Amino acid sequence: MLECRGVSKTYRLKDRAVAALREFDLALPPGSFTVLVGPSGCGKTTALRLLAGLETPTGGTIARSAGDTRVGYVFQEPRLMPWLSVARNVGFALEGRMAKPEIAKRVADILDVIGLHDFAQARPDQLSGGMASRAGLARALVTKPELLLLDEPFAALDAMTRRRLQSELVTLWQCFRPTIVFVTHDIEEAVLLGDEIFLMENGLIAERFANPILRPRDPTDPEIVRLRRAIIAGFEAGEARKTRTPKESTQ
Ligand SMILES: Nc1ncnc2c1ncn2[C@@H]1O[C@H](COP(=O)(O)OP(=O)(O)O)[C@@H](O)[C@H]1O
Ligand SMILES: [Mg+2]
Repeated sequence: MLECRGVSKTYRLKDRAVAALREFDLALPPGSFTVLVGPSGCGKTTALRLLAGLETPTGGTIARSAGDTRVGYVFQEPRLMPWLSVARNVGFALEGRMAKPEIAKRVADILDVIGLHDFAQARPDQLSGGMASRAGLARALVTKPELLLLDEPFAALDAMTRRRLQSELVTLWQCFRPTIVFVTHDIEEAVLLGDEIFLMENGLIAERFANPILRPRDPTDPEIVRLRRAIIAGFEAGEARKTRTPKESTQ
């Protein structure tokens, strides 16, 4: 169980402070699939970096269950090292931490699972966008993470490849059951993936949506469409608040 209570993060710049996250509460039961959705700049990446332990909160607490949680992090761009093969990229984090044959086996297994077996020796620039995304996912999964954090991992992909990777991610989650926090600005993606969806607005969680719709989820399913509409309505209400505030403050 991972729990954030009243977490805030303020970045201090030379001339001002940016409140990137405020009063952030989140409880992540083991094996849950949570989505943070919201427009650019609302604090999604900040939230993930705090969950990963890459940043420390300015206020509030992040409580983890006992022991070290293995964390996998997937960036929006795959960030592969261009001079290394796909296999070396995927196994890089394990180098020096276990015997070479064990790394080779782990890497081969994960490349099999993710469908990159035939590209183990390829260089990153020989991969399509979808394959590079798969490699980024494989690199996060090779450490067998208990907590898998994904920051808009499919945003740069064409719609059909994105759809395929979304279902593959769900299948991987169903097999390995990591706790997932998936960040996106795409409401359809949020509804197709998450069991809990947090709509973020301006550093705050504006609204929480439970998503009990059974998988596999079909984007045209009326229940999915209804939930999408509800999230869009929540987002539009937030936008309306935003445009109202400056006027009120000048009165
Ligand atoms: N390292 C940083 N220094 C200063 N401001 C930052 C930093 N990282 C993020 N911010 C600001 O914090 C806010 C939230 O950013 P971010 O978490 O990246 O949002 P999102 O991922 O939803 O686009 C934005 O206003 C952004 O400019
Ligand atoms: Mg971001």
